[in-house]
Amino acid sequence: MGEILSIALIGAGRTGTPLLQDLLKYDYIKILGVADVDTKSPGMQLAEEHKIACFTDPMALVKTVGQVDILVEVSGDLKLKEQIKNLYEQTGNRKTLIMHDLIARLLISLCSRSPQLTTSFHPEDQGIG
Ligand SMILES: NC(=O)c1ccc[n+]([C@@H]2O[C@H](COP(=O)([O-])OP(=O)(O)OC[C@H]3O[C@@H](n4cnc5c(N)ncnc54)[C@H](O)[C@@H]3O)[C@@H](O)[C@H]2O)c1
Repeated sequence: MGEILSIALIGAGRTGTPLLQDLLKYDYIKILGVADVDTKSPGMQLAEEHKIACFTDPMALVKTVGQVDILVEVSGDLKLKEQIKNLYEQTGNRKTLIMHDLIARLLISLCSRSPQLTTSFHPEDQGIG
């Protein structure tokens, strides 16, 4: 087995769920956990079906997965990225890449070969906060 990419996801809603569906297709991707305040959100249910660790507290996920390769943050909660970046600064995590809404939508659009970029459900959530 070659290199394995570790990924955790916050916000298992309209952007997070199709992304998770795509990520689950590849053996070289390991999903370490999914967080959503709503345990009934579609992505949380998908994660449960795949026996992925589920969290209702996003920071508990962030602390548990530590220096994960990629942290997908598509909850739409504008306060979260700052909290995550503060924690990474305190803990010296210079490795984890925070994947935000725009990059998530680019990936979904490429995977589905869409001629247009998929819609943002949280257009106010720009950059990494
Ligand atoms: N927001 C809207 O304008 C809107 C409009 C129509 C329908 N809806 C429906 O409402 C539901 C939720 O919409 P939305 O815009 O909240 O979600 P979304 O579909 O954009 O997905 C974001 C997900 O992140 C979760 N989340 C939000 N804050 C969080 C936090 N701090 N920590 C962890 N998880 C967090 C939400 O529970 C949601 O599942 C969806 O089923 C959607 O179809 C929303």
